[in-house]
Amino acid sequence: MDAKTDASLTLIDLEPELEDFRQAVVEGLSSSPQKTLPCKFFYDAAGSALFDQICNLDEYYPTRTEISILETCADELAELVGPDRLLVEYGSGSSIKIRILLDHLALAAYMPLDISRDHLLQSAQKIADDYPQLDVMPVCADYSQLTNLPEYSANPEQRRVGFFPGSSIGNFTREEAGDFMRNVARQLQPGDGFIVGIDLKKESDILRAAYNDQKGVTAAFNMNLLKRINEELSAEINLQGFAHNAVYNQALGRVEMHLVSQLEQQIKLGDQAFELAQNETIHTENSHKYDLVEFQQLAEAAGFKARKVWTDANNWFSVHYLER
Ligand code: AVI
Repeated sequence: MDAKTDASLTLIDLEPELEDFRQAVVEGLSSSPQKTLPCKFFYDAAGSALFDQICNLDEYYPTRTEISILETCADELAELVGPDRLLVEYGSGSSIKIRILLDHLALAAYMPLDISRDHLLQSAQKIADDYPQLDVMPVCADYSQLTNLPEYSANPEQRRVGFFPGSSIGNFTREEAGDFMRNVARQLQPGDGFIVGIDLKKESDILRAAYNDQKGVTAAFNMNLLKRINEELSAEINLQGFAHNAVYNQALGRVEMHLVSQLEQQIKLGDQAFELAQNETIHTENSHKYDLVEFQQLAEAAGFKARKVWTDANNWFSVHYLER
């Protein structure tokens, strides 16, 4: 562990191991019968910028819906959470969502966790500038792998509250989601809270539109994986040879994103070649949707009590207050 002090911030660097991109691509393209690519590689600088655009699309309802729920329930959340907590955010802290909590909760400190060091430092610095009373302690770590949180040096006994917005839990399988929540439960003490945003099951037309937007931003986000393979692994994939498609798999309760090969073709990586038939797909992302009871049961099996849930008028999205 390495601690570096900026002008006003101390970064705790847990030096997360970065998964080897080439190895992950080779493994995914070798997988049979369904080729895959891991969704964690969407988020280079270009992919993160595209994701920000997705969040503002008319069809992509989760971001604006979660923000409106948080605005509505913030005072109630503040009461449930109580004063003087250390807020631990799993993932980057640049968004409007964290600011809603910082504006309403009487927090002692804020610990954003993120694997991307530069992005983490930039967003933590902005928060520190805008909230001078708040003790901001960024931690560079892979939150999906983390078992213990670093000690909060000002007070190792400080009570905590976790925050995991955006339905990012949906990008885990249901089993991985359970494992992740069990890990979070271990990082909290009995009585500590965990605030989680969860996208809900709904009519498949709405889901399909959210992941196949008219402007083609989600398509560009998906295709960015192939661009990265070209740029970083010196492949020569013709991007015109692929199309984006997102489908709702009703049986598994998840939106699946695929890259569909428009023709019979090969992807060459060094001395390896991967054959694709016409219409064969590379599965790039799952976005699981839950119903309220199903999620609450998952949370309870992981060591939480489902204390309170808020939804929007359409019941499209939910914000849960879980208690360890
Ligand atoms: C980050 N994650 C919750 C988004 C989702 O909805 O699964 C990623 C995304 N993929 C396509 N559009 C948005």
